Amino acid sequence: MKSIIRQYVPWPIVKTLRRLYYYPKDLTDSVLGKRDPLTPPRGLSRYIGEGDFKAVGEKYVEYLITLGGLKKEDKILDVGCGIGRMAVPLTAYLEEDGSYDGFDIVPEGIKWCRENITSRFPNFRFLVADIYNKQYLPTGKYSAADYKFPYESNRFDFVFLGSVFTHMLPKDMANYLSEIVRVLRIGGTIFVTFFLLNDESRRLIADGSSSFDFRVELDGCWSIDEQVPERAVAYEEDHIRTLFEKQNLSIVEPIRFGSWSGREKFTDVQDIVVAKRET
Ligand SMILES: C[S@@+](CC[C@H](N)C(=O)[O-])C[C@H]1O[C@@H](n2cnc3c(N)ncnc32)[C@H](O)[C@@H]1O
Repeated sequence: MKSIIRQYVPWPIVKTLRRLYYYPKDLTDSVLGKRDPLTPPRGLSRYIGEGDFKAVGEKYVEYLITLGGLKKEDKILDVGCGIGRMAVPLTAYLEEDGSYDGFDIVPEGIKWCRENITSRFPNFRFLVADIYNKQYLPTGKYSAADYKFPYESNRFDFVFLGSVFTHMLPKDMANYLSEIVRVLRIGGTIFVTFFLLNDESRRLIADGSSSFDFRVELDGCWSIDEQVPERAVAYEEDHIRTLFEKQNLSIVEPIRFGSWSGREKFTDVQDIVVAKRET
């Protein structure tokens, strides 16, 4: 249903419908003073997913610290930062000499982050990039495959991508990975989530245990949706390992596999890959 809406209903109308759908709840929260100033209205934030905004953000920041080794004084880049779900809990963690930069392609999310997060925490900065993505910004002007990140080389200690490469196609992802390596200092960390295909996840998809049915084969990746492939994109684990190696990113083992495919042992929903820039 979502993909049919994406295909046939103009994008500004989709956004308006979403806001209208959540309007009664958002209005009630505002009137009753139930929404804290660092939680966006649902009608604005639902494009990043259905989970509890605060709880998911806090849980992920815990992973950044325990699995990725994020430090209080790090300079962090959040690629595809959405509507600040990780930025909000990071305001309580990063110290003054640390900093946070995030960029995303959805202007409404970035506007909310600037008005509500940067205004209170000036070392948290947000940028918008006008880049095409059939799921998130079908009106986007530029291609992710050619995008130069607007940051100088070696600037960051830590780069995070939460459920972003799960919505990007191979050429776009490959360019982003090389840009990430450029802006990450040597020895810095990349923390990224994926849907990874390997023997186990394929078996689980085939027997119907997975909540994502990656059956649409594209050039270099798999999707659940032929019409809007960016709805959910999976990559071969071997392909990701090769790509990381080519970029001099050494994976910190083990990869933490997620529950999306129906595994019984998992860390979170998506597969978590942590790697270090070697040279
Ligand atoms: C599932 S949301 C996750 C948002 C955020 N990382 C979080 O966990 O709250 C995926 C995000 O990727 C962003 N995105 C998609 N393509 C992008 C691109 N080429 N560059 C930057 N962000 C992109 C979308 O706009 C969306 O905010």
